[in-house]
Amino acid sequence: MSKKIFAANWKLNKTPEEAREFVIKFKNDVFKTPDFFKGKEVILFPSAFSLEAVSSLCAGTAIGFGPQNIHSEKSGAFTGENSAEVAQSMKAQYALVGHSERREIFKEQDELLDKKNALLQVLGLNPVFCIGESLAQREAGKTLEICFAQMDKGLKSFDKSQRLILAYEPVWAIGTGKVATPEQVAEVHRELHQYLTKNAFKNFQILYGGSVKPENSKELLAIPHVDGFLIGGAALQVESFIKICTI
Ligand code: 13P
Repeated sequence: MSKKIFAANWKLNKTPEEAREFVIKFKNDVFKTPDFFKGKEVILFPSAFSLEAVSSLCAGTAIGFGPQNIHSEKSGAFTGENSAEVAQSMKAQYALVGHSERREIFKEQDELLDKKNALLQVLGLNPVFCIGESLAQREAGKTLEICFAQMDKGLKSFDKSQRLILAYEPVWAIGTGKVATPEQVAEVHRELHQYLTKNAFKNFQILYGGSVKPENSKELLAIPHVDGFLIGGAALQVESFIKICTI
């Protein structure tokens, strides 16, 4: 059985000082519980300006971390972008790719996301690749078609012998308080699992994201093929993040 993953996406929140406070409190609280990290992987995704603060407190511990976005090239004339190679030098082990906010607001296309996933693999970082349908797509009965297409295109160059962390985040459930029902989550995760198996991915885990909270996390985590969560709002406070991580 692979470990359950609890990943915090802080989005555009927390100064470096606030990020440090979070990590110090988190470490103080969880290190009181022997075996807290047994059977689980904890990952923090701070904003780029706070990555160094998180790295300085987490590198070499059981707490993983990484950026919320990287550019598809390692370096060069790309003013304002963030480099995966620099994140690697800061000991990051993961990076988010294709979050729906990147797709929607910043118009990132599948082909670009494929390049980002491939670059991370070359550098030995684990992409946490996000997919998911909009409300209109769900209502049109296109959920699986959309998710499969996002995987077909965004993982085109992916080396399938390497680890993939996929995050299924229905766009309509993100930050809305509208969590997908257990039946909806179960259906999509089963189908995603089948797709990845059929397409010869050797080592993968599938996270759910969208209004995950301490009140619904136990029920969601019990669903087959839910290997953990990508958490936004409820991961901004140490107390609620720890409650979700406590299995
Ligand atoms: P919320 O947990 O705030 O709905 O955000 C989910 C998300 O977008 C995580 O990447």
